[in-house]
Amino acid sequence: MASLTSLLSLLTISLLSFSSSSQLILPIEKDPITNLFYTSLSIGTPQHIFNLAIDLAGPILWYDCNKNYTSSTYAPLPCESKLCNGDAGCTSCNGHFKPGCSNNTCGANIINQLADSIFSGDTGKDELFVSHTKLSGLLSGCTDVDGFSDDSPLKGLPKATRGILGLARTRLALPTQLSLSSHKLPQKFALCLPSSNKKGLGSLFIGGIPQKNSSFSKFQLATIPLVINPFSTAPIFTQGDASYEYFIDVKSVKVGGEILNFKSSLLSIDNKGNGGTKFSTLNSFTVLHSSIFKPLVRDFSKKASDKKIKKVASVAPFEACFDLSTIGRTVTGLDVPTIGLVLEGGVEWTIYGGNSMVLVNKNVACLGFVDGGKEPRTAIVIGGNLLEDNLLEFDLVSSKLGFSSSLLLHNARCSNLEASGNLVLIE
Ligand SMILES: *[C@@H]1O[C@H](CO)[C@@H](O)[C@H](O)[C@H]1NC(C)=O
Ligand SMILES: *[C@@H]1O[C@H](CO)[C@@H](O)[C@H](O)[C@H]1NC(C)=O
Ligand SMILES: *[C@@H]1O[C@H](CO)[C@@H](O)[C@H](O)[C@H]1NC(C)=O
Repeated sequence: MASLTSLLSLLTISLLSFSSSSQLILPIEKDPITNLFYTSLSIGTPQHIFNLAIDLAGPILWYDCNKNYTSSTYAPLPCESKLCNGDAGCTSCNGHFKPGCSNNTCGANIINQLADSIFSGDTGKDELFVSHTKLSGLLSGCTDVDGFSDDSPLKGLPKATRGILGLARTRLALPTQLSLSSHKLPQKFALCLPSSNKKGLGSLFIGGIPQKNSSFSKFQLATIPLVINPFSTAPIFTQGDASYEYFIDVKSVKVGGEILNFKSSLLSIDNKGNGGTKFSTLNSFTVLHSSIFKPLVRDFSKKASDKKIKKVASVAPFEACFDLSTIGRTVTGLDVPTIGLVLEGGVEWTIYGGNSMVLVNKNVACLGFVDGGKEPRTAIVIGGNLLEDNLLEFDLVSSKLGFSSSLLLHNARCSNLEASGNLVLIE
């Protein structure tokens, strides 16, 4: 009897520790105008609701603290703090104290890769709320977006948004802050981007895919290493910094099952940090080096024509466009030649019509890749279109990416999967 009791208490302990693994779940919407993605959370006291664009390459979370914005719980980060790296200098302000106006404050570089400038802002601590869960002591950047005359920190972002939620490999990105804070979430995050808002919202899981009581945990993920580019690809950085963006090692590209012929050295990162493949969710479409784009369009068009798909005039920014009435349908979207990314260990990421094709009007569908010119810094920039209805998990400790390939193969979409009854699973 004694041994049964201790067995039971052991079981209870292990069940408790299992249930304390937790996630923070944020909803994701797709903006139909920009085709970019955003989430929603509350900041400050009183709580202000912010829609923030999701940027896999963004180093921080930043929001608009314009003239009218106030918060009684805001505390600026002093310049001498260990957490202040000094990249953006030390700021001061002559007005009344408020978020965005304080002295001896650690500056923040407000980066939006769609704008032409880097903007100045402040680093500060405030409370963040996801559903009704309070997250205290998180550092973010704030800036008065009306304070810049020629360019705006919000340029190119969805109309509904007033800032960016950055998810890059940095100390101040939310997944890392939450793993180091008292919340102790696992240092990973997962994305499931919706292809449209009509059927529901997608999800961002900080802390990784929920294993407990979730329709997300049933998908088998293929795992590949995330590669670190030793040369920064950021618009502003310190000499010697590695890139904080997420790169993967694409070995070759296939169209309709056949290897595409181009200079394969473009796929490696050279001794200046050029080349290779990275993710960017502020790119709505995937951008390719011209020397990859041209053969892709040629081979794709040829294989499409073998399927009796009729080519029509280009619609910018796309080149290969087709008469929609000549394309069949499958569970994975339009029935077009597949595109394959051959990855480390022979793992292949197959891209079907649901991700590769863009409907530009009622009658025309185009191959959703754009020409990045002859000298882009990175050869392949995988944009949001290839990630929709795919489940992706970025593990920042093991530096690995897990991906599901199209959920349409399993009759599922990011927008109709349920994590659990509640949005927040933090315990
Ligand atoms: C501040 O609030 C006033 C009054 O509600 C409004 O007219 C003005 O546009 C707001 N300014 C900014 C920068 O949001
Ligand atoms: C910053 O310091 C200056 C000079 O001491 C002072 O005039 C100003 O009011 C201070 N600003 C704030 C926001 O406290
Ligand atoms: C699992 O999810 C269902 C549906 O959302 C909910 O009704 C149920 O209470 C959940 N069970 C647990 C153990 O959380």
